[in-house]
Amino acid sequence: MNQVLSVISSRRSHRAYKQDQLTQEQIDILLKAGMDSPSAVNRQPWHFTVVQNQELLDELNRAVWEETMKQNPEGRSGRFNDPDFHVFYHAPTVIFISADRDNYWYHMDSGIACQNICLAAESIGLGTVILGMPRAAFQNEKAEEFRKALLFPETHDFTIAIAVGIPDDNKPAHLHAKDRISYVR
Ligand SMILES: Cc1cc2nc3c(=O)[nH]c(=O)nc-3n(C[C@H](O)[C@H](O)[C@H](O)COP(=O)(O)O)c2cc1C
Repeated sequence: MNQVLSVISSRRSHRAYKQDQLTQEQIDILLKAGMDSPSAVNRQPWHFTVVQNQELLDELNRAVWEETMKQNPEGRSGRFNDPDFHVFYHAPTVIFISADRDNYWYHMDSGIACQNICLAAESIGLGTVILGMPRAAFQNEKAEEFRKALLFPETHDFTIAIAVGIPDDNKPAHLHAKDRISYVR
């Protein structure tokens, strides 16, 4: 297997991290991978905010909990049954991607950049988990405060976040769902 296929295949969502902080060199590699991503009409509608301030992550975690608890329990992730659940899994670094909401492809482009970052991290011995749940913090009354604290450009909305660090778990590969491929020949 070549190196690209091997990295794609070994990536996992890690939900426990050692507290060792990333080096600036590692962060630069991840951000370059994000910015190397293709985007529709090469608009590069993304903005990356690297967060290592655990107090801010705790505040976001609280807002996510607050918003999520307003939802019907049936629609809520089972992870919220654990009172110790932390949306960011205490990762030492979280990269927030916000993107220009007026760009038709902003979610797609963010997703591609997100996966490039995850694969780059895997290739240098770091683990990641993609995080959609923090979106709830931007539906909270503190949304504007968070947008400012995270330095989102005025035209940008949260699209996705990525927790990054040295993994401290042993996540198995997910099973491939059946019937997801058709051929028309
Ligand atoms: C768009 C998106 C949002 C996700 N949001 C979360 C999340 O908020 N919390 C979480 O623990 N995992 C989240 N995940 C990770 C998925 O649960 C994970 O990719 C899936 O279970 C497959 O496991 P694997 O990544 O280890 O292969 C998200 C993944 C994607 C692609």
